[in-house]
Amino acid sequence: MLKNHSCGELGEKDIGREVTLGGWVHRRRDHGGKVFIDLRDREGVVQVVFDPQEAQEAYELAGSLRGEYVVRVKGEVAARPKGTENPKLTSGGVEVIAREVVVLNASKTPPFYVSDDEEVEESLCLKHRYLYLRRMRMRDNLLLRHRVIKFIRDFLVVERFVEIETPILIKSTPEGARDYLVPSRINPGKFYALPQSPQQLKQILMVAGFDRYYQIARCFRDEDLRADRQPEFTQLDLEMSFVEVEDILQLMEDLFTALVEATRPDIRLVKPFPRISYREALDKYGTDKPDIRFGLEIRDISDIAARTDFQVFRGALDHGGMVKGICVPGCSHYSRHQLDELLSLAKSCGAQGLMTMAFTGETVSPDTVKSAAAKYLTPGQVEDIALRFEAEPGALLLIVADRSEIVNATLDELRREMARRLDLADAGLLAFAFIVDFPFFEWNEAAGHWETMHHPFTAPRPEDILLLETGPERAYGQHYDVICNGYELGSGSIRVHNRALQEKIFGLLGYSAEQMEDRFGGLLEALEYGAPPHGGIAIGLDRLVMLFAGERSIREVIAFPKNQNAVDIMLDSPSCVDQSQLDDLNLKLKHDVLR
Ligand code: AMO
Repeated sequence: MLKNHSCGELGEKDIGREVTLGGWVHRRRDHGGKVFIDLRDREGVVQVVFDPQEAQEAYELAGSLRGEYVVRVKGEVAARPKGTENPKLTSGGVEVIAREVVVLNASKTPPFYVSDDEEVEESLCLKHRYLYLRRMRMRDNLLLRHRVIKFIRDFLVVERFVEIETPILIKSTPEGARDYLVPSRINPGKFYALPQSPQQLKQILMVAGFDRYYQIARCFRDEDLRADRQPEFTQLDLEMSFVEVEDILQLMEDLFTALVEATRPDIRLVKPFPRISYREALDKYGTDKPDIRFGLEIRDISDIAARTDFQVFRGALDHGGMVKGICVPGCSHYSRHQLDELLSLAKSCGAQGLMTMAFTGETVSPDTVKSAAAKYLTPGQVEDIALRFEAEPGALLLIVADRSEIVNATLDELRREMARRLDLADAGLLAFAFIVDFPFFEWNEAAGHWETMHHPFTAPRPEDILLLETGPERAYGQHYDVICNGYELGSGSIRVHNRALQEKIFGLLGYSAEQMEDRFGGLLEALEYGAPPHGGIAIGLDRLVMLFAGERSIREVIAFPKNQNAVDIMLDSPSCVDQSQLDDLNLKLKHDVLR
């Protein structure tokens, strides 16, 4: 080895020791006739002192070192002079008195500072990913990701799970996104699909008798990207035989609890994880992935609105809509400008307007309420509304009257926005919860047919099987989501395990017998050979690590993510290919996409 110690691991125990270090020049300072270098490696940073009294040649060379040069330093570990210790570093009590330094490689001046966490333009940190990954924060994030995955593996092995890999070149499995397709050279005109998830294969593993499977599985989905979505991402995917919903939820609660204790003991949990029905989540929070670290719960005032002469309310209700709102304490002083910002946010969610009521007085009273709607409401109606929201003096009510989807989406957004403004979400808390009791189907207006809320392999509640045909809107599925701090972390379900029921569901979704055979023939046949009852879940690992790391984008916990346009700008991918490669694949590009 060219080095025998790590910079970041040196401490008081090493005082007097001769060490050889290898690393990057993190920072350089010249003062008092000496040169000080912070030398960095994966374990951290240590201060190296170049003193001409100790080693003249090394001192001279140190003056020419620049940020990100790779050097090897030999020297002796010494206690730092009193008052110069740096308590933030493990090695902050010591320094290395250099005797010799060798430049192993120079570096161009980086396009951004590696040594601080100043924000960097996204394209730069993706193009020079190796430099961005040198930052301590990114190092910490990737090491945390490593520890999380290692912990999960160890935990699941104890629980008798086996890790089994499934292929990447497969057939389309519907998870609601477009597939990435791979043309087959050997089978002209045919394509593989990259897995959106290993769903069908893990079910087939249950049929094969591997009653507890898991995989740290790479999944691919061609969909619009967001801060919590990448075209290529990782799931903790698992499946178990002979289980019921509660078994899987309990396993997840145990796993996450132990994982937090092992990797982020400073973070608190809400235990036991609350179970919230889908209906309750929509009613209270307007979304099925609410951030439950704060209140600002939605209240329905449709009944009060129906008694008013206010056209905005009445119009929404007459069209089958609803009137709902949230009550934000302490914001009655909001200026016109601040209210306009909230109005724009509401409009960006599709709402036609936002009705506000500010209780500015010392008591909550119709006399002191500030609202453009006040003149259309009787004092009694204002009082009823205030009572419904349990409004206190200083409260600001944000009320939306519209179709239920728009009301929910808008209030969800406003609720999160106000929590951000008021800093209501406790950063030291991971508020996991399970969303349960999902309807089995949802109506797809555009397509004019039912769609399953989760994927089509989800089993309905046994007592609702008959309803699938007679009252599909009343059937519930055995589907559950894990949510945390406003993110959907994972989804799963108990699966259909017999062919007849699976075919019936495909039929209700509009698949013909040929389409069923073509798309799902393999799974359908497997279900005929003694498939056990089974169920499972998949957790978005990138999202999980993002939350554990306190980041706001999964790109900060993925070594090599793609940009907003699904492009890897460091390796320049996707890219054009040679004509001969296209010929091999029997592919011809349309004229208008040719370079
Ligand atoms: P689902 O499609 O809900 O379920 O995916 C499970 C979890 O995967 C994560 N996820 C993503 N993460 C980053 N980028 C993406 N594009 C992306 N898409 C999904 C989310 C999500 O909750 N086979 C089923 C699971 C099952 O039924 O067992 C499935 O894949 O955190």
